[in-house]
Amino acid sequence: MRALTVLGLETSCDETAAAVVRGRAPGPGAILSNVVLSQIDAHAPYGGVVPEIAARAHVEALDEIVERALAEAGIGLSDLDAVAATAGPGLIGGVMVGLTTAKALALAAAKPFIAVNHLQAHALTARLTGGVEFPFLLLLISGGHCQLLAVEDAGRFHLLGTTIDDAIGEAFDKTAKMMGLGYPGGPEVEKLARCGNPGRYALPRPMVGRRGADFSFSGLKTALRQIVSAGDYRDSDAADLAASFQSAVIDTLCDRVGAAIRMFADDYPEGHTLVIAGGVAANEAIRSALVARAAGSGFQAKIPPPGLCTDNAAMVAWAGVELGQLGRFSGLGESPKARWPLHGANAGGSRKASAP
Ligand code: KG4
Ligand code: ZN
Repeated sequence: MRALTVLGLETSCDETAAAVVRGRAPGPGAILSNVVLSQIDAHAPYGGVVPEIAARAHVEALDEIVERALAEAGIGLSDLDAVAATAGPGLIGGVMVGLTTAKALALAAAKPFIAVNHLQAHALTARLTGGVEFPFLLLLISGGHCQLLAVEDAGRFHLLGTTIDDAIGEAFDKTAKMMGLGYPGGPEVEKLARCGNPGRYALPRPMVGRRGADFSFSGLKTALRQIVSAGDYRDSDAADLAASFQSAVIDTLCDRVGAAIRMFADDYPEGHTLVIAGGVAANEAIRSALVARAAGSGFQAKIPPPGLCTDNAAMVAWAGVELGQLGRFSGLGESPKARWPLHGANAGGSRKASAP
């Protein structure tokens, strides 16, 4: 199969991003350009992403970001094989901006359009960077999700476990907010945890030892709130609390990943790879703990570099490469989706057609 060159757009949250990727499955692919404009400064005063501000910022920035991505890749629209964009899940105003722009570019350049599921893009990034083969076990840890899935191919995902309350990135962000740290919270908590004592506070490890591979983070959040609001909590305790929180999260992740490896191994004895994806996979302490946990079960952990774990458009362009090679292009009527689970229905592309 010949290599495809795809322009990808990502606008589902607070990053306006465009990238050009060239490659063929199973990867690795070549990232010809990867432009990410973070809106963090616009949202920081509110302690979280404000959907209306995000949508407007995407409108203002996207055209120039696309121009830069094409220029840095040294190509024009006519050199592309397809244009891909995140069609969900995410903040609907932002998704509409990227989706509409991608459709317009595809139409103007007479190129196929590919609607990409944002979670699918995170999931496939390890193939862009590492050439991982199917099937693999996926731990998807982001601002909106915490899931364990068996990935059979670029569009077939089986859910093994999910959070019954908060997403893991949300737990990091809420913890940071309670502790008066900046937004987004994950990197701030990680930084502080480096110089703290993880044994100082005895925090709960929700779901550890339970049947199945589900997660829960709300009990941890409540325990943390009680500590922070107690009269004797001081700023000088913050590093110990951040370290204790991160250590509780790591213990929970390791236990749930161990349970999922056992479930996965029963159904896919040929698979020995754990892929970790999503913004929280940028966390160094989580990365190294999970690499060791996977190795303990004879699995190899594959984690994209931190800059490709958090939201970016190279992952969307790569998902476009994979779907394009399967001939799974989308019609221009494809609608934006605030919710779009990976499991159940096939993710990405809606129409079977011949590959370009
Ligand atoms: O994948 P992502 O960029 O956006 C979503 O699709 O949600 O993930 C963003 C989440 C945020 O909750 C952020 O706090 C978290 O990833 N995050 C981290 C780290 N870097 C980003 N969490 C823990 N440690 C980090 N270093
Ligand atoms: Zn994401």
